[in-house]
Amino acid sequence: MTEQETIAAGKGTLDPLVVRLSDSVTIMRGDCREVLPVECDVVFTSPPYNMNLRIRGGKYCSRQIVDEFSTKYQGYADNLPLEEYERLNDEVLNLCLRECPLVFWNVQFLTGNKRALFRLVGKYADTLKDVIVWDKLVAQPAMAEGVMNSRWEAVLVFDRDNAISRQFDGHFKRGTVDNLWQIQRERSVDDSHGATFPVTLPARAIDAFTADGQTVCDPFMGTGTTGIACIRTGRKFIGIEKDARYFEIARARLENELRQGLLPLTHNPPRQPEPVGDRLNAVVGHGGKNA
Ligand SMILES: C[S@@+](CC[C@H](N)C(=O)[O-])C[C@H]1O[C@@H](n2cnc3c(N)ncnc32)[C@H](O)[C@@H]1O
Repeated sequence: MTEQETIAAGKGTLDPLVVRLSDSVTIMRGDCREVLPVECDVVFTSPPYNMNLRIRGGKYCSRQIVDEFSTKYQGYADNLPLEEYERLNDEVLNLCLRECPLVFWNVQFLTGNKRALFRLVGKYADTLKDVIVWDKLVAQPAMAEGVMNSRWEAVLVFDRDNAISRQFDGHFKRGTVDNLWQIQRERSVDDSHGATFPVTLPARAIDAFTADGQTVCDPFMGTGTTGIACIRTGRKFIGIEKDARYFEIARARLENELRQGLLPLTHNPPRQPEPVGDRLNAVVGHGGKNA
């Protein structure tokens, strides 16, 4: 199979590749565990949900996609056995914290991941600084009776150097930032990937916790949403994605965004100070009515 055929088939990983799209945007195709650690100021990421690990008769049915449930991804099975899923989160988080002091880890507690994520929270209790609640405003209806509808996701905030305090030294730019963020979901940019977050989510963190020109890394880049937020806020971006098709979607999306002329901030005239909310809405553009 040629590289193009593999990408078109929507299944699979290809040899590692590094593509520098501009002075400020670099994306890498490959397993982030083989690429990390990379030096950056902030990590903002959403690891896979493990959506397709299900239970049957009180037991996990690993490696089995249950047909009656729609899968969020076409290129990624998203059904690691729980221990493997826990190891993936643990290894990547650990690698991130080696070179990056502040890590934002967006997760939704689901059947296929909650035990692993609760253990992760326990293991990193001394590094976990705060938890942001992302209120999506509309609950996803539960797929079975007696299950609570899920309306929010968590953004776990890990601070490598000073998690004991809730104060953000040198990161928090101005004013105050709530830890409840009401941001509507957005349609995914491509039907093959249904687990994307809205640009406003990473943009809000990037705007509040990084300075102009700093570098943000997303080791589970998916369709490149964190990169879009970086371009729109004038930050540098390093993205890593294992799946060849999602990598190509991210590449096209980021190239398009760069072409639209929002040059990296180093080339822009200095901005006038503006209230955080107004500036975010201006740069992000389409974050929904409550963005
Ligand atoms: C929840 S999605 C991220 C979606 C992204 N936030 C967006 O808005 O498009 C997780 C992504 O991680 C990718 N992935 C899974 N394991 C990986 C690994 N070991 N290294 C790099 N990427 C990986 C999956 O292919 C998937 O695209």
